[in-house]
Amino acid sequence: MKSITELISIEVKTAFKNAGYDEELGQVAVSNRPDLCEFQCNGAMAGAKLYHKAPIQIATEVADKLSGNEVIESIEAVNPGFLNINISGKWLAGYLSDMTACEDGRLGLEVPEHKTVIVDYGGANVAKPLHVGHLRSAVIGESIKRISRYMGHRTIGDVHLGDWGLQMGLVITELKERKPDLPYFDDSYEGEYPKDAPFTISELEEIYPTASGKSKEDEEYKKRAMEATAKLQSGVRGYRALWNHIMNVSKSDLKRNYDALNVTFDLWKGESDVHDIIPGMVQYLKDGGYTRVSDGALVVDVKEETDNKEMPPCMILKSDGASLYNTTDLATIMERVKEYNPDRMVYLTDKRQNLYFEQVFRCARKTGLIDKDKELIHIGFGTVNGKDGKPFKTRDGGVMRLEYLIEDINKRMYERITENRDIEEDEALKISRIVGLAAIKYGDLSNQAAKDYIFDVDKFTSSEGNTGPYILYTIVRIKSILAKYVEQGGTVPADMGKALSFNAPESGAEKDLMMALTGFADTILGAYEEAAPHRICAYIYALANAFNSFYHDVRILAETDEEKKKGYIDLLVLTLKELETSINLLGFEAPDRM
Ligand code: ARG
Repeated sequence: MKSITELISIEVKTAFKNAGYDEELGQVAVSNRPDLCEFQCNGAMAGAKLYHKAPIQIATEVADKLSGNEVIESIEAVNPGFLNINISGKWLAGYLSDMTACEDGRLGLEVPEHKTVIVDYGGANVAKPLHVGHLRSAVIGESIKRISRYMGHRTIGDVHLGDWGLQMGLVITELKERKPDLPYFDDSYEGEYPKDAPFTISELEEIYPTASGKSKEDEEYKKRAMEATAKLQSGVRGYRALWNHIMNVSKSDLKRNYDALNVTFDLWKGESDVHDIIPGMVQYLKDGGYTRVSDGALVVDVKEETDNKEMPPCMILKSDGASLYNTTDLATIMERVKEYNPDRMVYLTDKRQNLYFEQVFRCARKTGLIDKDKELIHIGFGTVNGKDGKPFKTRDGGVMRLEYLIEDINKRMYERITENRDIEEDEALKISRIVGLAAIKYGDLSNQAAKDYIFDVDKFTSSEGNTGPYILYTIVRIKSILAKYVEQGGTVPADMGKALSFNAPESGAEKDLMMALTGFADTILGAYEEAAPHRICAYIYALANAFNSFYHDVRILAETDEEKKKGYIDLLVLTLKELETSINLLGFEAPDRM
């Protein structure tokens, strides 16, 4: 279905043509002066240069051609040559009705071509607890995945675990230090290894930072960790068995954490999965003549003539022949192309990896690991800061664990929900979990990803302003009006797919709400194109505001004209549909009451 802006443009373009001017001049845009008009067209200004005429003259001629038009209620030529346009309320009602009639229930969203999309997000590192930095990757990535899937694209989410590098060697080294008698370290051991891991998740989480700290101070220790990494990677049996234990313990803990965020992955692959195909890939790169040796390391040049920034070569193998982060990412691209042939891959990490991904993408394209017409997108996000503007830390200065952050929000939410009212403890807890998650996710997603933001528990949990709870309150309000309407004997359409009927608006607030509702399809398309969930947040915030103004302006259930009341109800149903679909795409849900 065409967007409302496109449809109005068609009318205005025809008018330009009928008045003897180039029709392309008739493109309209949503007005940047909503106090003056709903849409504007500045084509007469450009036309003035082409036709050597005063712009106001052209604008006046075009406006004349549009008098009596059924789409346009009023069009005014104003000095020096702008066209101010308001659209017909009756036509607007018809447009909304057409949106609801779309059989797939997607309100006019059309996607001509279905693609295969891989979203690489989460990016947790095995044996390390999820921290606040991983929050953004998980939350933004989950939303991008859902948006893509809603568009009808075959979409695959992959957590791409950090499960292969030095961090694993460090953990193994520290374990050996503590429990040298374990059979995993006995090279002559030939029996079955124990089924249970020789550590718990809390031990594991304490082992890694200890080992990492030691390796920074003790060269000898670091050397042993590197040796352990090499032994693991070369397939030493005991080391692999131990690694499996680390993976299992860590993964089930990660799953629990991601579940709490309503984040799910289709694939639990990681860097280790491509280990075996790396030699073949390196050979391919060498055979293709893409590589050269620099200071003993194997590299691919990715600098282009047009670069005006530093663009170091992409390193494939270190001088000791070991593979690195780049190598696993390139091999993963190769693997994904073979397995899924994706048209688009979106990666989420913090923006300090911007240059890194630029190198990897260039290298993959240049060497033909992936076709040049495929989209490779890196969304580099900003830092989560505390109120002091510095990266978020615990009170004692440690890394903020995701779990604690969620606890903090839920606690504050619980306080707010139980403030001055009687509510069962169980229900209050349940609601605060649902709303708390919305508070966290919306607080993150409403910011453009690349920007840093301040994690402000008070602001995020507030039911006023551009927050998750505000959106949820609006949804709950609509649900409760609809429930009352049903109690009064009314019927509410179950879902979209059959045309709802709307009346021409009678008030400014009603028309504003109707206008706000027309942008759904365009918003989703834009959010997909730019891999930018914040566009959905901006849309539903404006929509919720428009709805709440309407709600304060119009007495919905007290309306005695049944026809009119039915029109209001249909507006509510459509608003609810858009809001609920949108929050689902953002990755959270609304409670039945708050
Ligand atoms: N584990 C990495 C990190 O913590 C993120 C992985 C992102 N995905 C990728 N394909 N490189 O920085």
